[in-house]
Amino acid sequence: MRIGSTYWPQAPVPPLFLAPMEEVSDAAFRRLCREMGADAVVTEFISSEALIRQIEKSWQKAQIWDEEKPIGIQIFGGELESMTKAARLIEKVQPDWLDINYGCPVSKIVCKGAGAGILRDIDKMEVLTRAIVQSTSLPVTVKTRLGWDSQSIRIIEVAHRLQESGIQVLAVHARTKADGYTGSARWEWIGRLKAIPTLHIPIIGNGDIDTPEKAWQLYHAYKPDALMIGRAAIGYPWIFRQIKEYFQTGQVPPPPSLEERVETLRKHLQYALRLLPYPPQKIVLELRKHYSGYFKGLPHAKNLRLNLMQAQEPTELLRALDTLLRRSTAYSLS
Ligand SMILES: Cc1cc2nc3c(=O)[nH]c(=O)nc-3n(C[C@H](O)[C@H](O)[C@H](O)COP(=O)(O)O)c2cc1C
Repeated sequence: MRIGSTYWPQAPVPPLFLAPMEEVSDAAFRRLCREMGADAVVTEFISSEALIRQIEKSWQKAQIWDEEKPIGIQIFGGELESMTKAARLIEKVQPDWLDINYGCPVSKIVCKGAGAGILRDIDKMEVLTRAIVQSTSLPVTVKTRLGWDSQSIRIIEVAHRLQESGIQVLAVHARTKADGYTGSARWEWIGRLKAIPTLHIPIIGNGDIDTPEKAWQLYHAYKPDALMIGRAAIGYPWIFRQIKEYFQTGQVPPPPSLEERVETLRKHLQYALRLLPYPPQKIVLELRKHYSGYFKGLPHAKNLRLNLMQAQEPTELLRALDTLLRRSTAYSLS
């Protein structure tokens, strides 16, 4: 599969993408996931309006480093002028591609005709996408959902019209806007897209991949060109490495030891302190959403997480992690 000049082989493992996730897929986490086997990453969505108004916080979200490449920067917005301007402005950051968000179900975005809101106006989606492709020298990709609701799943038409508009790859979260995150992702639609001979652009399948076995099963049943993983990576960047190992050996790798988890969380903290533009206390707060993932599956996981939750400062977090390791015999995997 290819986006611009970036090529990923399909075998022995399809390319694995870290999903864009607001307030999760930051530079620290993206770098960690790349080290743990993610083949590509995408930033969290960034408002095109905020970019063109030069809002510092939004430009900070667009800051990227060589170590995390290949990377796509994701933008959202419902206005053609802001989206095309933002697409041009983003060139200076030199991501490997520009990704458009047509899938966010959050009301304040949808009501402006952005994110999944545009799934109710496919004509506008096509016009907007074509204008963005023409306005930037970057390769353009789209991430979307199946449709607005179960009665209006138009992903097959959408995929063709986006292909005509000049996008290079389409990532599909196999749910509708109305589904939110409920029920199971409807991967059969990924299979339908892949079975259409007139659809040439690669399709990235996304939704509910949370184990190596599930990744293998969905990949072989529906044949997407790449897999995208979101929630299962939060606090568990090992998911990428584990999927790769499972595809290569057929064996489910053992879960990481407590020592490895603590070491990785320390590294995550270091990256966050180095790469994120926040004061140390905010960084510790930001890391909290990863704690349950880091200790998932361990005996006493809840206690481990609660201990870490007390930490307000990086030094306190590091001390709490040292204490965890000292007690590791009590907590060790059994
Ligand atoms: C906390 C969170 C934030 C998200 N933010 C974004 C976003 O900024 N852009 C986007 O396209 N999707 C966003 N998503 C959706 C994910 O990219 C992904 O499509 C969805 O979680 C389904 O994949 P999963 O089952 O592997 O998590 C977000 C999801 C979560 C859980």
